[in-house]
Amino acid sequence: MEPYRIKVVEPLAITTRAQREEALKRVAYNPFDLRADEVTIDLLSDSGTGALSAAQLAAGMNADESYAGSRSFYRWHAVVSELTGYPHILPTHQGRAAERILFAALLEPGSTVLSNTHFDTTRANVELTGCQARDLPCAEAADLDSDYPFKGNIDLSALQQALESAQESPVSAVVMTITNNGGGGQPVSMENLRQTAELCRRHNVPMILDAARFAENAWLVTRREPGYQDRTPRQVSEEAFGLADGCIMSAKKDGIVHIGGFIGLKDPELAEKCNGLLIATEGFSTYGGLAGRDLDMMAQGLLEVTEPTYLAERAEAANYLAERIRAVGVDIVEPAGLHALYLNAGRLLPHIPPHQYPGTALVCELYLRGGIRSAELGSLYLGEEDDQGNPVKSAPYELVRLALPRRVYTRSHYDHVAQTLADIAKDPSSVHGYRIVGQSPILRHFSIQLEPVKSAG
Ligand code: F0G
Repeated sequence: MEPYRIKVVEPLAITTRAQREEALKRVAYNPFDLRADEVTIDLLSDSGTGALSAAQLAAGMNADESYAGSRSFYRWHAVVSELTGYPHILPTHQGRAAERILFAALLEPGSTVLSNTHFDTTRANVELTGCQARDLPCAEAADLDSDYPFKGNIDLSALQQALESAQESPVSAVVMTITNNGGGGQPVSMENLRQTAELCRRHNVPMILDAARFAENAWLVTRREPGYQDRTPRQVSEEAFGLADGCIMSAKKDGIVHIGGFIGLKDPELAEKCNGLLIATEGFSTYGGLAGRDLDMMAQGLLEVTEPTYLAERAEAANYLAERIRAVGVDIVEPAGLHALYLNAGRLLPHIPPHQYPGTALVCELYLRGGIRSAELGSLYLGEEDDQGNPVKSAPYELVRLALPRRVYTRSHYDHVAQTLADIAKDPSSVHGYRIVGQSPILRHFSIQLEPVKSAG
């Protein structure tokens, strides 16, 4: 059961089918453009959407808003230092600011960054510095149905090869994303982190953790990795941070706050460079784009997030929803992670070709039938068409992500999600595809405009 009870509630927007049809048409079938109060269950992201605890709110009330050297900063600094062990810690307003600052200070233009899988802003920030971002997911990740426990791992032999051929294309950093959000929310094993760290050390390349979901990764390590059953998520987290040369963190996930992030580093010179950029673009070193109350609430959130009772329930809730979804005959990326479930829309809607976006079709159907907002991770996100709209590249899988905000929805909300999927799965052939009628050249899935295609082909 949830290891907390509810003290403050927020009404859900209960809408009619007619209202949802009108809303979806108005936003050209792009759920990013819906007003949130047109959504009943919002599973668009687990980022910044968690519920604060009473202790976090109290910490926020006790915050110090001094411009420099606030009490809040020192309290926050002590918590983050103890968790990560890094001697140099800089606050940022969110994860992508940490990425931008660290990459500007660390990466050599023209070089390559290797990763188990870059998150999309991480990739964009690597490319903005004139570098190439290469993903090297382990081979097991390609089989969506297998229950291999660590599909978030990097492919160690591909990594070794890339590091050894660095004369042609120098490698500036290896970024390990825990858990692997782009790869189905799958965890990375400690063994894989250790071997990656060893390879990086041998080639003198820094290993950086993208630690947005470090606690969830640690929880799955304690459940799935031999030798870790008796360790606490906190101990596993500390070990993971210790293996790396530094981290970038979006605290909007496992900091359980609405805004916040940080950079942690071992290297004092690199930290000094980052600090200069931080002051110029985010804020002074003791607030980095955050209010004192944000720092205090993050400090408290970072303590709560590694609590075994919290993590056990989070995993249970995700498993509960996963079980119900499997039971209605909809496949998900296995095994279920914690922060999101990824629906296999391509398999549910085989009559919709990739360039009519089966993922989008399922996203729209979930909204129309249940007021549920989700995100496509398929050919709308990763595919390409030529100027005439003819398909050039489609995504390897057509997925839909149901992200699970922290401490927000209960099992009966998840029952509603499963019931909506059950209704869709009863007659999938009635679901139709979509075609693009407008898009922007960068990160198109945020601004795409679509219209329904009523007949296949
Ligand atoms: N790294 C990972 C693994 C992420 O999932 C995200 C954000 C970021 C970095 C960027 O952090 O949003 O604080 O700037 N992921 C969100 C999501 C947006 O919905 O998965 P940010």
